[in-house]
Amino acid sequence: MTTTTTAVIDLDLPGATISRHVYGHFAEHLGRCIYGGFWVGEDSPVANVRGIRSDVVEALRAISIPNLRWPGGCFADDYHWRDGIGPRESRPRMVNSHWGDVVEDNAFGTHEFMDLCELLGADPYVSGNVGSGSVAEMSDWVEYLTRADDSPMAALRRANGREKPWRVPFWGLGNEAWGCGGNLRAEQFASLARQYATYCRNHGGNLLYRIAAGANEADLHWTETLMRSFDDLAADPAGSAGPFQAVSLHYYTMAGSWSDKGDATGFSTDEWYVTMARARRMEELLTRHSTVMDRYDPHRKVGLVVDEWGTWWNVEKGTNPGFLYQQNTLRDALVASVHLDAFHRHAERVVMANIAQTVNVLQAMILTDPDTGALVLTPTYHVFAMNTGHHDAAALAVHLRDVETRAVDATELPLVSASASVKGDTALVSLSNLDAETDRTLVLDLRGRDVVGHTARVLTATALDAHNSPEQLDAVAPTNHAGVGPHPRGLEVDLPAHSYVTVALELR
Ligand code: AHR
Repeated sequence: MTTTTTAVIDLDLPGATISRHVYGHFAEHLGRCIYGGFWVGEDSPVANVRGIRSDVVEALRAISIPNLRWPGGCFADDYHWRDGIGPRESRPRMVNSHWGDVVEDNAFGTHEFMDLCELLGADPYVSGNVGSGSVAEMSDWVEYLTRADDSPMAALRRANGREKPWRVPFWGLGNEAWGCGGNLRAEQFASLARQYATYCRNHGGNLLYRIAAGANEADLHWTETLMRSFDDLAADPAGSAGPFQAVSLHYYTMAGSWSDKGDATGFSTDEWYVTMARARRMEELLTRHSTVMDRYDPHRKVGLVVDEWGTWWNVEKGTNPGFLYQQNTLRDALVASVHLDAFHRHAERVVMANIAQTVNVLQAMILTDPDTGALVLTPTYHVFAMNTGHHDAAALAVHLRDVETRAVDATELPLVSASASVKGDTALVSLSNLDAETDRTLVLDLRGRDVVGHTARVLTATALDAHNSPEQLDAVAPTNHAGVGPHPRGLEVDLPAHSYVTVALELR
């Protein structure tokens, strides 16, 4: 016998804006993400625009992809941008030492990435090389991309076929500087971040939002050290943070350890629950890092950017271990919904997030068949599709009552996760039933505004590891949800076991 959970929502008390950028993505030169995923080249039989896969662009436009982080990851701190400009046939090669030890021919470089962003309608988030690059190299890259006049770098860009500067709003200063990005100490990196940020200039009207490589998981010392290195954050509440504007955070979800992360499919029910408990940890991490940030930054000028998150499983058997190709199931979808709920709740501090990674790597939106080129939308993709109503909407607090929990490891896992937002006369409520076995009913206690209509969608499947394939494209796909009806306090919603449900409300 399960209890009825109640979600109390005050529809007339909008909170912080949920930036659409928390629905951001990440594309690294890793495995088949860029090559085969985004880029097939002009001569490919796969339909493309200037070498970029048309079907991938269309799928990502359909979920309103807000930004794309590139070229890494660990690759970013090995990447020298000048290798990726000019005629493709004369671009130098390099070894991608992090990912499969393969030779990278630099066919996809700055112009191709910016073309991709323009096709997607997404803001570029360029990750600059601190680990093995130089201040001058990074400064020149910014100038190359964003300067309009006849400066040396603008002239070089023009010689390579692009007249107008691009708009580049987001700029990363290194990646995982505590690890693959140089094995630096926090204090050492904080000084470098200040220095690099100084030389990443705002050219013309292009205002850079500079994001310093941040902490791994619960490394609060890293965040604290970066926060101490800002110029006086307490002064001038209306001013902006400097010399950089945000710090990042990375956290991956797995069912096991780094040496044996668990398989993407064929997992046990226990592994399901462990995974959900690990996904819930994002909430704790955001709270703890935000608490540190609040101490130094009372006016919340500094953004927290979770620019790598998602599931990381053992690679699929028979694939290159360095390519991080993994299947994506209903479990991944619920991991995504739990994270997105946490980002909504922390909207006042979390300004951007990037799931890792967009195509064919880790928790991908899209998988492509290496032989046939067939494209598969994953269950995770569908969560992003169901959530577009949250983009730039105002977060609403959701107060959950009578949520059952389950003991997992040393913690109690709440079996329902929820968040909500409002934009004008519509609200969107996200509800995840993390219970692998039991259907439940949830009462939406809706206060403050009249609800004059509703529609609902559900994402679920019979098997916990259900996933899509070229043979079964829609094994896990959202359908209209009939299990929502009136209740004296609002609406009553059926939540099937292991399901994700969204309820869109029409308000007056
Ligand atoms: O996303 C895969 C890798 O995970 C990234 O390159 C790195 O930043 C992280 O360790």
